[in-house]
Amino acid sequence: MNLLSPQNKSVILFFLFAGVAIIVSLILLVLAITFFPITIGLFFIVKYTPIRHTFVKIYHQIYDYLFYQSEKPRKILWGFIYDFMCAYFPLNKWRAMNYGYAILNENGRILNNLDEQQEEERFCLQLYHMVATNCLKLKDLQGKRVLEVGSGRGGGLHYIHSSLKPEYCVGVDYSQNQVDFCKTTYGSSQKLQYMQGDAENLTNLNIQSFDLIINVESSHCYGNFQRFVQEVTKLLNTGGLFVITDFRAAQEIKQFEQDLQSTGLKLENKVDITINVLQALKLDEKRKQQWMTRHCGIIFRKFFSKFSGVQSSRIFQEFSERKTLYLIYALRKV
Ligand SMILES: C[S@@+](CC[C@H](N)C(=O)[O-])C[C@H]1O[C@@H](n2cnc3c(N)ncnc32)[C@H](O)[C@@H]1O
Repeated sequence: MNLLSPQNKSVILFFLFAGVAIIVSLILLVLAITFFPITIGLFFIVKYTPIRHTFVKIYHQIYDYLFYQSEKPRKILWGFIYDFMCAYFPLNKWRAMNYGYAILNENGRILNNLDEQQEEERFCLQLYHMVATNCLKLKDLQGKRVLEVGSGRGGGLHYIHSSLKPEYCVGVDYSQNQVDFCKTTYGSSQKLQYMQGDAENLTNLNIQSFDLIINVESSHCYGNFQRFVQEVTKLLNTGGLFVITDFRAAQEIKQFEQDLQSTGLKLENKVDITINVLQALKLDEKRKQQWMTRHCGIIFRKFFSKFSGVQSSRIFQEFSERKTLYLIYALRKV
């Protein structure tokens, strides 16, 4: 047994972090008990006065910087999180990880041909379908060579491969554990391959060029988004399309669009799907809550609630208030 396999490494790393966090918390607790009157005073000030809002604001600013704005810390954090999650939750049924897409009726469906496994993650796959076809007004992808950057646990690309029949598909993801998961789950074939790689360094992978490059809810993890667009541009055939969907704070959209067009790709289509993502989150709420109850302990439940987009999460609130928007862009290399 290889104790230092990538899976074991990320679990060991997690428990090391957790150990350090527990020691720091214990030291803070001892200090808090030692200086009890000051602690109680501070507690009431923070909890029951307007200062509370300042603390929450500072917390959100630090959090947003670390997870969404910084260059190196963001890349390291997301890289670690996805690798760890795959090692800790190797569940075969969990194959897609985006917030999903639903139309605005009571069942939100746009797909009728899903099997039992795919049905579980219907809304996540519907987002893939939108990215790969509807947004481009295509029925299938026959003859097209497709690359997905940030393919995660592979379910979305597998759906595209089996339902839209492209010539072949390649999925690239930063997390080695997820790539191993994909190889085990979907097998290896010439027509569907998964490999480990960095969105900001795709040309290193020595892969061919593509007619369609897709990117689903992954770009917010990248340290340098412009570098990613440069890499995509190099790998696209002339006439090929780059379709990207992700969320951004409303005030960041302008810069995001400038970066997308910084290498000369021509913007062909832009769709704001925030309301459809919200609808998907509402319709998927029960499944996510049940999943968290079944698979997460108390610690992970809090963590998952934050990122899963359930209705109590900050991201759900921000989509509702349109402080954060979710968009699809299609750009062509001319
Ligand atoms: C929210 S998940 C989405 C996964 C998949 N697209 C889906 O919808 O199921 C984000 C993915 O981006 C990947 N990712 C993050 N940073 C990356 C990078 N620099 N290069 C390639 N993939 C990256 C993560 O490992 C993760 O699998």
